[in-house]
Amino acid sequence: MFSSSKQVQISWGGGEPVSVAVGTPWLAAAQTLGHTIPTGCLHGSCGACEIEVNGHVVRACIEVVTDRDAILQVDMASDPYW
Ligand code: FES
Repeated sequence: MFSSSKQVQISWGGGEPVSVAVGTPWLAAAQTLGHTIPTGCLHGSCGACEIEVNGHVVRACIEVVTDRDAILQVDMASDPYW
């Protein structure tokens, strides 16, 4: 599906880590792991798709899985203004 052969472990919501190819768009990674990320604009401006990856806010519609850390801990971002 994605050309990168490098894999990274993703633990979504504290679940068991699952291997995902580096470079996979976050929306696709979520779908592969059985999760749905809410979306709005789909081009990075509204913030509806924000998730937290190891404590850093990521806009899932425009960012891809990186290999910055050994295991990527993912949670849905909570925004009190949204
Ligand atoms: S859907 Fe709007 S920023 Fe991602």
